[in-house]
Amino acid sequence: MTSVVDPDLRLAPDFGPASHLTCRECSATFELGAAYACAECFGPLEVSYRFTDVSRARIEAGPPSLWRYSCLLPVASYAADEPNLHPGLTRLVRADSLARALGMTGTLWVKDESANPTHSFKDRVVAVAQSAARRLGLTTLSCASTGNLAHAVAAAAARGGQRSVVVIPADLEAGKVVATASYGGQLLAVEGTYDDVNRLCSELIGDPLTDDWGFVNVNLRPYYAEGSKTLGYEIAEQLGWRLPSQVVIPVASGALLTKVDKGWRELVELGLVADSPYRVFGAQASGCSPVAQAFDAGADVVRPVRPDTIAKSLAIGNPADGPYALDAVRRTGGAVAAVSDEEIVEGIRLLAETEGIFAETAGGVTVATLRRLIADGRLDPAAETVVCNTGDGLKTLEAVSPAVGPTATIRPQVAEVVAALGRAQSGGTA
Ligand SMILES: Cc1ncc(COP(=O)(O)O)c(C=O)c1O
Repeated sequence: MTSVVDPDLRLAPDFGPASHLTCRECSATFELGAAYACAECFGPLEVSYRFTDVSRARIEAGPPSLWRYSCLLPVASYAADEPNLHPGLTRLVRADSLARALGMTGTLWVKDESANPTHSFKDRVVAVAQSAARRLGLTTLSCASTGNLAHAVAAAAARGGQRSVVVIPADLEAGKVVATASYGGQLLAVEGTYDDVNRLCSELIGDPLTDDWGFVNVNLRPYYAEGSKTLGYEIAEQLGWRLPSQVVIPVASGALLTKVDKGWRELVELGLVADSPYRVFGAQASGCSPVAQAFDAGADVVRPVRPDTIAKSLAIGNPADGPYALDAVRRTGGAVAAVSDEEIVEGIRLLAETEGIFAETAGGVTVATLRRLIADGRLDPAAETVVCNTGDGLKTLEAVSPAVGPTATIRPQVAEVVAALGRAQSGGTA
């Protein structure tokens, strides 16, 4: 095993069941540390484990948050007790009305991540990265973000008594910018795309200024990405320890998709769920669909694009996990598809009108993609399906505000209510 970490860092870390980092390209192994690129081939590193003492009973007896899965994560057993936002264990909603509207006969579920502490699934990845930062003595939490991660990092750092420096493209939705700025950390808005922001953060890592910074999705990426497995674990546990036949997941970097798949394979290997076939589907906006384009072209290489979509949370033109998302989708017999901005707004409204769940644009992308996949005959409408709503619609009001509004604006008089509701004054009954 090669060491690419500072020798001082080797003394402290306790990463629970995590044993080492493995290169996803050449399989070289490295000691656990703040390393994210392979010293041999520059491929991305991910966490490998030596699991012990994992059982359904142990998990079920754990806290009502993602920390119930600590025995499957690169975290110390005491991570749950350190100041953090305790995300996870969000609802899995049986969505019969949405299924009917989509012509589905199989059971449909919505995994609704909007109830996380900062209203997106990003609280999961940040919780695991924050724990890793503590193990590695990195005292400033930082990130390159399309908005939700910014919100999650600023809030987690505030709760954890840490400094935060968050970097975003300047054109994000007001809800995400204002919320992030409220936690009191540094918020740097960059004139450029997310990919420019990501490159800037990668360059900053070499600067002495950032010696004690943990960029959650750059130098802490192996740990951060593992947090996404918990969304998959929860779906399995909430279904009574079994896997659904199909899942639809929004794709930006592609890490959520690849890690739900990794989490499910772990559950099968550990005997926690039966080995049943499942198909993984990816959802993108056509204004930023590099993975869907590669899927359609039958390519292994994901060619970067310049994003132009209302789905800003998914606007990553050069997705780090793109090729691995393609692998997972192809291996399981799924697909990646993309939908227009108009379809995204329709997707948001459809989910709201049928299930009472107000999604941000990423959720609109996912619901609209589900509809598209059914129409194209690529997803089986008779099979049990989970669709992921990964964020709250209150963060992206501008996406839907041109399309919705009050039924009428009236004076406070009963007659005006009756008139507005289109009833004759004499005949109007409740
Ligand atoms: C709400 C939401 N859903 C999905 C994603 C996609 O996550 P990933 O980058 O892991 O593909 C993001 C990424 O920022 C997001 O903010």
